[in-house]
Amino acid sequence: MSDAQRTTAQPEKREQFSGQLGFILSAIGSAVGLGNIWRFPGVAYENGGGAFLVPYLVALLTAGIPILFLDYAIGHRFRGSAPLAFRRVKRWLEGLGWFQVMICFVIAVYYAVIIAWALSFFVYSFDLSWGDDTAAFFTGSYLQLADVGGADPWFTLDFVSAVLIPLVLVWAAVIVVLAAGVAKGVEKVNFLFIPLLFLAFGALVVRSLTLPGAVDGLNALFTPDWGAIADPAVWIAAYGQIFFSLSIAFGIMITYASYRKRRANLTSPGLVVAFANSGFEIFAGIGVFAALGFLANQQAVAIAELEGISGPILAFVTFPAIVSEMPAGPLFGALFFGSLVMAGFTSLISILQVVSASFQEKFGWTRTRAAVGIGLVAAVISVVGFSTTTGLIALDTVDNWANNIGIVASAVATTVAVGWVLRRSGEMRFHLNSVSTLQVGRWWSFCIIVLGPVVLTYMLVSRIVSLIQDGYEGYAETYLGVAGWGTVVLLVVGAAVLTLMRWRVEPDKFDAWPTYGGKS
Ligand code: ALA
Repeated sequence: MSDAQRTTAQPEKREQFSGQLGFILSAIGSAVGLGNIWRFPGVAYENGGGAFLVPYLVALLTAGIPILFLDYAIGHRFRGSAPLAFRRVKRWLEGLGWFQVMICFVIAVYYAVIIAWALSFFVYSFDLSWGDDTAAFFTGSYLQLADVGGADPWFTLDFVSAVLIPLVLVWAAVIVVLAAGVAKGVEKVNFLFIPLLFLAFGALVVRSLTLPGAVDGLNALFTPDWGAIADPAVWIAAYGQIFFSLSIAFGIMITYASYRKRRANLTSPGLVVAFANSGFEIFAGIGVFAALGFLANQQAVAIAELEGISGPILAFVTFPAIVSEMPAGPLFGALFFGSLVMAGFTSLISILQVVSASFQEKFGWTRTRAAVGIGLVAAVISVVGFSTTTGLIALDTVDNWANNIGIVASAVATTVAVGWVLRRSGEMRFHLNSVSTLQVGRWWSFCIIVLGPVVLTYMLVSRIVSLIQDGYEGYAETYLGVAGWGTVVLLVVGAAVLTLMRWRVEPDKFDAWPTYGGKS
């Protein structure tokens, strides 16, 4: 398509956050999500307890914060969501942007399902509908899980209405918020939900700490197993946790930074976001393990003997059991599941904003068209893939591949392309330092150019090898081929197709500001 055929240049007047606070709350809203509340406590416990904090902090300082700043620099300097911003860095990098958009789309379709479960359990909290056998309730009465690997097929279209109804509600809310825009939708939700989330979760942690057995729970979480530090798998877990949790390397922070004013401090707010996210995560670990200590105390067993201290089972089987055992349990349950809904929802809208913004920019779609069009397609896939009797296993598999392969591959590609191939890290550092009060130095460049690519490539290769050699959770190989590796194929093919499609709005008439004259 010639320039003349393209409608107009990208609109100079981009949507904007109302100010620094709106941006910080929205970035915290994106970062603090399901990953903090249900993933972190289990990951920390299984990977050395207190000793896990060492690789975790190293991962935060050497990859988390540096890549967060890199995302900010790309989005803010090149003023676009991932495909547009990467294209403006270098034309052939557009595909990496679409790869990140595809990751967001895939994560969104199952992430919404977990929020839907949390919404159901928020309601169930009030009369403790799950009864005495919380495991049977979650997998049986609620999810109606098929007997995959046994009598039932790996994929069914038997819809479960108890999941489908809240899921439709979640998608309707997402569409409304995205259609309202960055300042009037996304930012407003975060202004409301983030303070509420911190209050609700704060009350829950304080209550947990006053329960009998809480100290045993904290001992179980924090007693260091120093031997774990020598295990590469523990380091991989730490880096993986940081990426997902900070919402970096899959387009979100690029997109959010593109909605900041030209002269906007980037690095100090970035540190606030990073430490707020990690603080919340550790806080969540304390709350969850104090509550687990209480459950172990009630059942007169050791924490290690409790089943389900991570993932869906922790949140939807073990936590309901805790709620049932405690005085004023319904209130505690409502606080926990309400927190999950709020934390998840503010992350979900950030994930979908990436997809919506990139379609608006490339195809000239209006905000409403993007919100409704993308929201409806995602909702249908979400319902068909994950609100059925085989939804849990599909969710578990897609999540593992999207995170451990998709996001890590995207982080490798970003650092290698910007730091090594294009040698543009100097320009990014110049940009960060031109607009920010807190300056980044050689350490940042070292992390982006050397440390990041080396550590992340090692991590990616070892994950691929272990998935090929060991499979995943004992699931059938053909199933993993379709749902797991198929997810990777979908990410790549989707990204290629979207890259090859024509720009309806001129992307390239653009001058990066401030002008950079230096070397990398
Ligand atoms: N950062 C979000 C989370 O932790 C995606 O869940």
